This record gives sequence, C-alpha cells and structure tokens, in this order.
Amino acid sequence: MFIDQYDRKFSYLRLSVTDICNFSCSYCLPDGYKCKKRQEPALSVEEIRLIIQGFAANGIKKVRLTGGEPSVRKDLTDIIEIAANTPEIETVALTTNGYNLPKYIKSWHQAGLKALNISVDSLDPRLFHSITGHNRLSEVLKGMEMALELGLKVKLNAVLLKGLNHTQLPQFLDLVKSRPIALRFIELMQTGDNQVYFDKHHLSGQSVEQLLIRQKWQQQERSLTAGPAVEYSHPDYKGRIGLIMPYSKDFCTTCNRLRVSSQGNLHLCLFASEGNQLRHLLQHVEQQPQLAQHIQKLLYGKKETHHLSEGYSGSTRNLSMLGG
Ligand code: 5AD
Ligand code: SF4
Repeated sequence: MFIDQYDRKFSYLRLSVTDICNFSCSYCLPDGYKCKKRQEPALSVEEIRLIIQGFAANGIKKVRLTGGEPSVRKDLTDIIEIAANTPEIETVALTTNGYNLPKYIKSWHQAGLKALNISVDSLDPRLFHSITGHNRLSEVLKGMEMALELGLKVKLNAVLLKGLNHTQLPQFLDLVKSRPIALRFIELMQTGDNQVYFDKHHLSGQSVEQLLIRQKWQQQERSLTAGPAVEYSHPDYKGRIGLIMPYSKDFCTTCNRLRVSSQGNLHLCLFASEGNQLRHLLQHVEQQPQLAQHIQKLLYGKKETHHLSEGYSGSTRNLSMLGG
C-alpha cells in the first residue's frame, strides 16, 4: 500500500484524462481552453491502463476520472471500462461539467461507472450561463436525473461565489429535498490565474455552515475513509450537503488521494510545486515494479500540508490542469 511519512494511506487515485475543457468557468478558464505550445499529448489508453493497474496493485481501490472535461475524449467509455475491469478497483467515478451526460451516461454506466460528480454552480439558467459561458443548465440537469434513474451515486459540486451564487442556497436545498444527491459547496481556491477574482468572490464555507445549522441540519460523523467534505444531513431531506473548506485547519490530515495529470505527472498535492513524471515508466508492463517503487519514493516527499492560507498555490495555474 502507498503510504507517506505522516502515515497517510492512499486508496484513491484522481486521474486526469485531458486538460481540455469546452466550458469557460469564470474562476478556472475565463477565456476558455487555450492550446499550449509544445504540449505533450495526453496519456494514451494503454498508458492509462498501466497507470490504473500499477496503482491498483498497490492499494488504490477507487479511481476518479477528471479533466479538464473528461468527456471531450472520444475513448472515455473505453477508459471507464478498463478501470472497472481492474479487479482491485471497487469504484470508478467521473467528474464532469455535465454537458455530454444525456448522450453518454447510459454507455458509461454500462461500462461500469458507479459514481458521478457534476459541477453545477447555479440552478438559475442565466447565472449558470454567465459563470460557465454556456447556456446548458437544462441538459446538465436532465443528465443528472438520468444518472439517478440508472442508480448511480450522484454528487453535485458548486463553487461558493460571493456576489454570484451565495444567495442561492434555497434553490439548492430544494433540489436535494426529494433526491438522494450529495451536494458539495466548494470554497473557491486561489490559483495562479485567478487572484483578482479570488479576492472579489472568495467566501468562507462557514457562512453556509451557519445557515445550515440554523435550519437544523446536523453534522455527520466522519468515517475514516471519508473525503475532505464536512457533511450535513436533515431528516426532511433525502440528500446531503457537504462543505469543502481547503482553508480550514487540519484539511490535509485526512488526505487519502493521489493525482495524476493528463500528461502522466504525479502530483502529491493539488497545490504542490510541480508534478513528477511517470510517463517513462508507462511504456511496457514489465516496468510495473519500478513504477510502484518510484511512486513510493516520491510519496515520502509529500508535505504535511499545503500553504494556501499564506497565498501559496504552487504551480497550479488553474484547476483544469488537474481536475480539482
Ligand atoms: N476553486 C474551487 N473549485 C474549483 N473548481 C475548479 N476550479 C476551482 C477553484 N479555483 C471545481 C470545479 C469542479 C471541480 C472539479 O473543481 O467547479 O466542480
Ligand atoms: Fe472546465 Fe471544470 Fe474549469 Fe469549468 S471548472 S472551465 S468545467 S475544467
């Protein structure tokens, strides 16, 4: 099992399959995706197979495919299938902006997808349009309903944005009243590209937390394998509300995840200074023991915490590079 010097054990891999995104969320890619000069191609399906098998042989039980927007890849269904057919992998999850859901969700489900995170920063079509650059809220919500019908575990991510969606808690609560959805409010994170935006729109998750507590929402016990969200439930609601507050103390002590970029670089933290190349160890299956040794060696260098509160966001210019 992969482990670090603070005894954190890693059972969860977030694998970005592309850094391309067709949305232009105002906090992430306000001018849309720009092709970089001299960029290496994204991982091939065969490289992805070797990554997933290599991590699975060392204790990874859950794989989340992220982007950019993963569904811009034509071979995403094959990638889901590879992950789902890896015996040690118990859960294959996908994070998506949702625009392609109605078209593909059935085939992804058939390929073995179990869980879906959809980014929905507003339930108001006009605000959704102005945040993401696309007038596609109705497709996204239709895709969400289809995923629920198929029995997938559905989470919605909303980045908390002061002055934009921070007054829309009632609409979100309404949505989770009759649906078994886990809604997560994510505190806006400062990245290399969004500093002015961050100062204008960052809002602490504690403001939402106080509203929830006033409305008798109750904080859930955290299980050992839980992710970074603090979760709330309410007897009158089928769904749950979670808060992801990366600026809170001790956020990093429960870290159980590793990230690999679409170019095959291992990132020890969303905000580490740089990625570590794995690609040279993904060329044939005989390299798997070296791959595992290399990852374990790198993990001993994983820092205890990030330094976001001091305004240090590493080399991460925006989260389309790593998928959050
Ligand atoms: N801060 C917080 N969340 C972000 N995301 C993208 N950029 C940021 C940021 N700077 C979110 C997306 C998506 C998830 C993968 O990460 O909205 O829900
Ligand atoms: Fe695309 Fe996600 Fe970034 Fe929005 S937040 S622009 S959906 S990568």
